[in-house]
Amino acid sequence: TFVIGAACVDVMDKACVEECPVDCIYTGGRMAYIHPTECVDCGACEPVCPVEAIHFEDEIPEEQREFVIENARFFAEPLPGRVEPLGDPGGAARIGELGVDTKFVEAYRP
Ligand code: F3S
Ligand code: F3S
Repeated sequence: TFVIGAACVDVMDKACVEECPVDCIYTGGRMAYIHPTECVDCGACEPVCPVEAIHFEDEIPEEQREFVIENARFFAEPLPGRVEPLGDPGGAARIGELGVDTKFVEAYRP
């Protein structure tokens, strides 16, 4: 799957959201997250990000490895203030902006 890395934090340009044919890029508070199983690996999002935050998971720079986990965690574990995990919403447009991040991203200092 493709993942969004550190460069998105506090930028969250959202050009990628428009580009994704399956609407699997979800916006949090400080960054956006790609759903690991809804993403069909088309790669359309990667070149449109102005800060080059999007990487194929195996090609993300080593120091950003944690972001591979965080992209998945955003859906697999309850977000702050929620009881249930997001799971597989089947499209970002239908649930709108989440406005919150995983604990790691919330506390992330570039
Ligand atoms: Fe972030 Fe780049 Fe998308 S800054 S929201 S990954 S276009
Ligand atoms: Fe969408 Fe990018 Fe995956 S455009 S399908 S999130 S590779």
